[in-house]
Amino acid sequence: MSDTQPPMEWPNFADIPLEEAIPTSRPKGQALSRFVWWDGEIRRAEKQSVHYYANALHYGTAVFEGIRVYPTSRGPALFRVQDHMRRLLGSARLYGMSIPYGVAELVQGAVQVTRQNGINHAYIRPLAFFGYGPIDIKPKQACAVSVFIATRELGTFLGEKALRNGARVTISSWRKFHHSALPTMAKASGHYANSVLAAHEALDRGYDDAILLNQDGTVSSATGENVFFVRDGQLCTNDEASSIVPGITRDTILRLAQEAHVPISVKAFTREEMMRAEEIFLTGTAAEVTPVCEIDGVEFRTGKDTLGARLQRAYLATVTGKDARHHDWLTWL
Ligand SMILES: Cc1ncc(COP(=O)(O)O)c(C=O)c1O
Repeated sequence: MSDTQPPMEWPNFADIPLEEAIPTSRPKGQALSRFVWWDGEIRRAEKQSVHYYANALHYGTAVFEGIRVYPTSRGPALFRVQDHMRRLLGSARLYGMSIPYGVAELVQGAVQVTRQNGINHAYIRPLAFFGYGPIDIKPKQACAVSVFIATRELGTFLGEKALRNGARVTISSWRKFHHSALPTMAKASGHYANSVLAAHEALDRGYDDAILLNQDGTVSSATGENVFFVRDGQLCTNDEASSIVPGITRDTILRLAQEAHVPISVKAFTREEMMRAEEIFLTGTAAEVTPVCEIDGVEFRTGKDTLGARLQRAYLATVTGKDARHHDWLTWL
């Protein structure tokens, strides 16, 4: 069993001292920016409004993305923005929403609004929604689609303590909706009611976040992050068959681990398999690579010798342009 095995010798990844992994100069608040890209042009953010009868407000019919901008030695850069815009268009397609822009135009919009707002450490939120129309549930028939790209400051998501020392997580009593009920891969606003219930439950129980099981009884994901665990020398995570949003951070971690020849297993896993892990971490654009120190009173390894800490360091080196092998993932302003 894993308890009796000696600690693994994990690869060192990017050549950066562990202490430097998490920069200290992150924004503390979530201040909104002055400008927003809205239907193809830059506008003053405070002048924009959404109709109170917008279909999206009533029925959750919006799709969105979350993209980060990181400071690099060559100035601010967006991380994997093309992949995010591709996923946005995929989510829209699943909801019958036609967006009159392609990936290149959306990327251009994101670059433009980030530059205009003069920020170098931010979270970018592209969102497309069905607007004003009749009170029915066929928005693709009669509701205009609007698209905006907003930006705001974002330091850490689950808090700096969680990023450094680990998050305390509970298993939610709410199940993740099955991919046969809603297209789980889509980042659609309505889907997040499920995450809100689980996140509120975590809050009420005194935890930082919650992990949801799916309708098959295996682990799905956390409220806004994918789940990885490490056991017996293997890095494990699940895939779309487990009703997850297949995260771009998840994909980045798998690529970095593959390149370092870490043994990987991608398949559905049960709660008991996860609870027997040596270490667990969560991945997401907002949460980055956040170690889990506890699930419902059971403790897991954290600290700089863990694979999670090494991958966190490799990830942060990648997104800030310190790892030249992955500059193709960065879009400089
Ligand atoms: C439910 C859910 N799972 C996983 C993720 C992670 O996706 P990504 O790494 O692309 O941000 C997110 C965040 O977007 C999410 O909301």
